[in-house]
Amino acid sequence: MITINGREFPARDGETVLEVARREGIWIPTLCHHEGLNPYGSCRICVVEVTAGGRPGLTASCTLPVSDGLVVETDSERVRRCRQVLVRLLLAMAPNAPVVRELAEKLGVTDTPFKRLGADKDGCILCGLCVRACEQVGAYAIGFAFRGVRRRVTPPFGKQAAACMGCRACEQVCPTGTVKFTESGDRLFGDTWQAELQVVRCPECGAPVG
Ligand code: FES
Repeated sequence: MITINGREFPARDGETVLEVARREGIWIPTLCHHEGLNPYGSCRICVVEVTAGGRPGLTASCTLPVSDGLVVETDSERVRRCRQVLVRLLLAMAPNAPVVRELAEKLGVTDTPFKRLGADKDGCILCGLCVRACEQVGAYAIGFAFRGVRRRVTPPFGKQAAACMGCRACEQVCPTGTVKFTESGDRLFGDTWQAELQVVRCPECGAPVG
């Protein structure tokens, strides 16, 4: 059994706190989580507060395994403050992404003190879902390059992804709608076939949708 927000719930070995919470209808926001992919724990928006039965403090619920007697809060003051800071950072990275705007509204965040972030301000929030989906299908056509503020998905948007198989998994899992898969040439006779990731732009103003 684990306790979430003061109520006890059954939990199976191997489950995460996020999985139990979702099963029981408790809202925890996620961005870098996808049921079909291994937990990654990069965006931290799924943060919960462990108060007993484990290492106390804030931690990502999508990578937190259940253990008997674990007690967590999903909506404590600390959790809310942490999520608000994270959303302000996300607003600096992807101010136009519907998922980010929706999260901001839910968490009562109206603006960000941070300057627009991102190597080329493309709206990517670096959640890694596209990279992990690409690994999962065995293509390994895209990955991450650099660290810190220079971190980005590579090959850069608009450049050819040489090992791409054209499955479009990257496009499907992107939570901000930033990744757009395009292809040209003849896929059957691959010597002329090319695949690229593009940034989706607003047809009106040209800004990235992310
Ligand atoms: Fe858990 Fe991103 S959803 S860290």
